[in-house]
Amino acid sequence: MKLILLGAPGAGKGTVAKLLTAIDGSVQISTGDILRGAVQAGTELGKEANGYMTRGDLVPDSLIMGIMEKRLQEADCQKGFLLDGFPRTIPQAEALTELLAKLNIKLDMVADIDVPRDVIFDRLCTRRTCSNTDCQAIYNIKSNPTKVEGICDKCGSPAIQRADETEEAIGHRLDTYNEKTAPVAGFYEKKGLLKKITGTSSDVVVAAIKKQLGL
Ligand code: AP5
Ligand code: MG
Repeated sequence: MKLILLGAPGAGKGTVAKLLTAIDGSVQISTGDILRGAVQAGTELGKEANGYMTRGDLVPDSLIMGIMEKRLQEADCQKGFLLDGFPRTIPQAEALTELLAKLNIKLDMVADIDVPRDVIFDRLCTRRTCSNTDCQAIYNIKSNPTKVEGICDKCGSPAIQRADETEEAIGHRLDTYNEKTAPVAGFYEKKGLLKKITGTSSDVVVAAIKKQLGL
């Protein structure tokens, strides 16, 4: 499957992407995960992105397009991909359209996961993420806790709060989403690709996406 997962911070894009990869081996491509990996590795990209991310601002479009242009041409994308957290601005959506045309790739669908703001705020305050950048498994102390407190079930690394999980940064990320990313849904609606998916249970969201894809 070749999908874009749209949705506010905390809507469950990462959680749903991980569940969908198990269906047909499509790869999850999370720009947030890639950037957090670069920050932890201390690369030039990471140094440039770090300040924006900690504040809850978007990283400049040019940096993101540089990452995605390379990533989408890697061999593992041929089976399919789930774009998680990208595109996030109209210029990114326009650049992606051009890039996909150049690579002769057709998107199946853009799933816009819609979750109420109060649910989102609660989820982000209680999320834990594996600190191993090759893992970045997602947990929640209420809905999906680790078996041993603070330790990732999959790789044994500490499961921690992300640097952008302060109350201030969460509020700013939600505002940035409304201003810059929500219009991306309209962009894909005009192309006839958008499907709005409601439901607060991940299983319901995954089932709705599968149904839309005829799987
Ligand atoms: P990114 O990592 O993409 O963060 P985000 O969009 O803010 O989204 P989140 O990862 O916070 O939420 P999610 O929707 O993945 O939810 P999750 O599945 O974890 O981006 C981080 C930063 O990187 C940005 O602020 C920006 O600076 C930069 N960046 C990234 N991409 C960029 C781009 N394209 N352009 C510019 N800048 C970019 O779920 C949340 C929690 O809820 C978890 O605890 C989970 O366990 C729980 N949960 C999920 N589903 C359910 C459920 N159904 N029921 C109960 N709990 C649930
Ligand atoms: Mg995520």
